[in-house]
Amino acid sequence: MFLGGRIPPHVGIIMDGNGRWAELRGLPRIEGHRRGVERSKEVIECAAELGVRTLTLFAFSTENWRRPSAEVSTLMRLLELYLEKELAKLMKEGIVFKAIGDIVRLPEHIQDIIKKTEEKTASNRGMTLVTALSYSGRDEIVRAVKRILSAGISPDAVTETVFESFLDTAGLPQPDLIIRTSGEKRISNFLLWQGAYAELYFTDTLWPDFSKEEFLYAIQDYQQRERRFGSVPVRPNAR
Ligand code: FPP
Repeated sequence: MFLGGRIPPHVGIIMDGNGRWAELRGLPRIEGHRRGVERSKEVIECAAELGVRTLTLFAFSTENWRRPSAEVSTLMRLLELYLEKELAKLMKEGIVFKAIGDIVRLPEHIQDIIKKTEEKTASNRGMTLVTALSYSGRDEIVRAVKRILSAGISPDAVTETVFESFLDTAGLPQPDLIIRTSGEKRISNFLLWQGAYAELYFTDTLWPDFSKEEFLYAIQDYQQRERRFGSVPVRPNAR
């Protein structure tokens, strides 16, 4: 697939609107999640083809634990099925799989599949697919602080670089573009530290309707942005 212009090296997506999509059709919410997983697969494939180096999907937040237990267990089952069924494809496409979040809160068998998938895909050379599970940015920051204290790091030694190395995302680049579907214009605890300079793209489209074409619109929109990182525009011959 060809799309001229800069491809954001790291794209993060807040996949929102599965429940509303289902409710609008008189279907159980879980049908929206099922359809959402299919959309995720398409977007993963499209991002890898475009040359995105890292794609982070917000799949389950720490707040999502408060949902009815039947919905939580179906979401867990969908994740399990995704990992079981898609491993061969991840290997074929050279995708590295990584999970971030408070993974120890997930059911043990899911933790095992995550670990197995991370190990099997670790030496792949293609796009890194990061799945945020039982994740929130504030929780990640608090867990990082606890790790820093447990490691006995002195206050003077704590720099931004040191701090980052204790986050779940240690070693991953910061997101260049964050997309949120479903019309909400919020970050909702997603990559709070890492997204400091991310370009934000919001669309009214509900996640189960978010097609490859919509993903390409988001990339094209990003290509129009001028990124200054708090500095001034870089112009040739400027003094
Ligand atoms: C938000 O919709 C979506 C979720 C909470 C779950 C999203 C998860 C997937 C699509 C699974 C994908 C995972 C992988 C790894 C492929 P919502 O239920 O909050 O929608 P609502 O705001 O309309 O209620």
